[in-house]
Order: sequence, then C-alpha cells, then structure tokens
Amino acid sequence: MKAKLSQPTAVITGSGFFVPGLPVTNSALPSTLDTSDDWIKQRTGISQRYIAPKKVLTADLAVIAATRALQKARLDAHDVDLIIVATSTPDNAFPSTAMLVRQTIGSTAPAFDLAAACSGFVYALSVGSQFIISGTYEHVLIIGAEKMSSFIDWHDRRTAVLFGDGAGAVVLQKQSSAYPAFSRLEAEHAEPELLHAPPKGPITMQGSEVFKFGVRTLTQAIRETLQQLRLQLKDIALIIPHQANIRIIQSASERLEIPMDKFFANIHQYGNTSAASIPIALAEAVEQKRIHPGDLVMMVGFGAGLSWGVSVMQMSYNALTLVHEAKDSALS
Ligand code: COA
Repeated sequence: MKAKLSQPTAVITGSGFFVPGLPVTNSALPSTLDTSDDWIKQRTGISQRYIAPKKVLTADLAVIAATRALQKARLDAHDVDLIIVATSTPDNAFPSTAMLVRQTIGSTAPAFDLAAACSGFVYALSVGSQFIISGTYEHVLIIGAEKMSSFIDWHDRRTAVLFGDGAGAVVLQKQSSAYPAFSRLEAEHAEPELLHAPPKGPITMQGSEVFKFGVRTLTQAIRETLQQLRLQLKDIALIIPHQANIRIIQSASERLEIPMDKFFANIHQYGNTSAASIPIALAEAVEQKRIHPGDLVMMVGFGAGLSWGVSVMQMSYNALTLVHEAKDSALS
C-alpha cells in the first residue's frame, strides 16, 4: 500500500444494515411467477430475499441501518453534519427520504437523496467524502435504502425473482494520515429501456444486455483502479461488488484471475437490493470479520442509466476495533 498522507481524508468509522421481516425463499414466491428454486439459484445465485410489509417505508429501513452505523461509530445524531440517502425508491417526491431520516433520528444536518440506481451508494460515498476532503464537514452519514418490492410486477418472472428490500449505512469521518479516499464515477449512453422503472414501477429489463454490462464494468473498474492507484491486489482486503447476480461476480473473478474469496458475496441471502446492496454487504463483512482494522476496501457499483462507479476507502481502526471487541465479549 502507498504511504499514508497527512492531508485529511474520509474514512469509514461505522457501518450497519437492516432487512425487514422474514426471508422469502424462492419456493415461497407468489405462484403468479412461473419459476423454480433451481432456475433462480442456478441463474442468479439467489436463495431468498426480504420483502417489507406494505406499510413499511424506505425511510423506516434507512433509519434502523443509520442508527446501527452511528452506534458503531460511537456518534449520535447531533454529531452528523450531512445525511445522504442513495435510493431509487423514495417514499415521496418530497420531502426526501433523507429528510424523513433526519427528523426521525433527531439530526439538525442538511439532508438530501441521491438517485443513481444500483450505483447510488458509490456515487453518494463520492459526494460525501468530497465534503470531508474539502474541510466543509467532519461527519457524514451515507445510507443506501430501497423498497424494491414496491416496484415489482409479480407476473414478470424475468425481474421479480431478482430484487429484495433493505438498507445499509456508513459513517464517514475526517481523519489525517489515512489512505486517501478514492472515487471514480462513470456513465454510458444507453437506451432507457435496457433497465427501466417509471415513478411507481414496474421494473423492466433486458437481462442479458445488463448482465454483459455488469461483467464488463466490474472487470474494468477493478483492473483500472488497481492500475491507477498503483495498488496490488494484496493491498485491498476485500472487493465489495454490487450484488446483482453471482454469475456476474464469478465472471469478473475468472477474467481478472482474482479468486472468489477476494470478493464479498451475499446475494444468496438478500437478492439485489439496488443502492442498498453494497452497504449491506460492507456491514455484514465487518460483522463476519472479513474486514479488519485499517483495511482498504474496494466497492464497485453498476446499474441503470447506465451508470457505474468505484470507491476505495480505508476502514477506521478505532471503530472496527470496537465492533470486534463487542462481538468477542458477546461470545465469551
Ligand atoms: N424462472 C424461469 N425461467 C426464467 C426466469 C425465471 N425467473 N426468468 C427468465 N426465464 C427464462 C426466459 O423466459 C428464457 O426462456 P426462453 O428461452 O424460453 O425464452 C430463459 O429463461 C433464458 O432467459 P435469459 O433472460 O436469457 O436468462 P439469463 O441466463 O440471461 O438470466 C437474468 C436472466 C435476469 C438472471 C440475467 O440476465 C441477469 O442477471 N441479468 C442482469 C440483471 C441485473 O443485474 N439487473 C440489475 C442490474 S443493477
């Protein structure tokens, strides 16, 4: 890893996630879908997903994930300088989901939503970290939250089996002498029909085209980021890709000759939760001790637009130590 710089940068000091209700297995999906557990598992890697009850809002999911992330960072809502919620399934046109979160957790910070589909969390990390690097803010709360179930056509087996609900959050904090936070945002021209949802859904998608885009961009993002930052694979503790299809991750792993255990994958449990998928995966990786204090993590998002982005950030030593200590003491 390159030498640490003394210039302030943004690090992740807390993470948390939440999924609603009980898991819905492939076999428990509505009978309106002419599908099977075998097909879904083999073609996507998904075994189950979580579907929120109708009355549960995207903001409700976001609040719980955010509260957990703040607890891990040992901060309370008053410490937060800015809240960004990455979502494509906001509860209202306005006020934003971020404003609902702000009110519920009791924050006085400015708050706004960011819509960039499944790339939303990586885009939000980039925006949030710029505020820290510029010296404007010290503590930024970034949330990815989605209620994808409200956008699903339960008669369309090509899309309905793929998605799930949930939220993940991280706290970004200013730190000197950490690895400089890196982000790269990209967008490509594409017909909107490739992956599309009108304001109230349903989602429609040309699956195989989107699949190819996912493999191409995930591969390109990892290869070019390592080159650009002059990092070796061993410098990155874990690659956390957007969880869209396990075969997209496997294809990138084969093309790059990077072993699958360098990637974090939890799509089998949650399906594709769009902007929430990377922060859910990150928070779960912390819980599973796949990420250790001081580690560098690479996150890659890709989705509708078409859009994609990559972020490399360092995990804070102190906050992760706290997480690990709490887990250890709970086990002893
Ligand atoms: N159950 C059973 N059969 C299904 C099915 C389902 N849930 N969904 C599609 N099929 C059928 C199709 O109707 C088609 O049948 P046909 O040959 O008789 O017409 C056949 O399976 C193959 O369809 P195809 O779309 O070519 O399958 P695929 O191998 O490309 O897998 C996806 C479909 C959607 C799983 C895959 O394309 C994918 O994951 N794409 C990317 C999705 C994504 O990442 N979206 C979000 C990006 S952020």
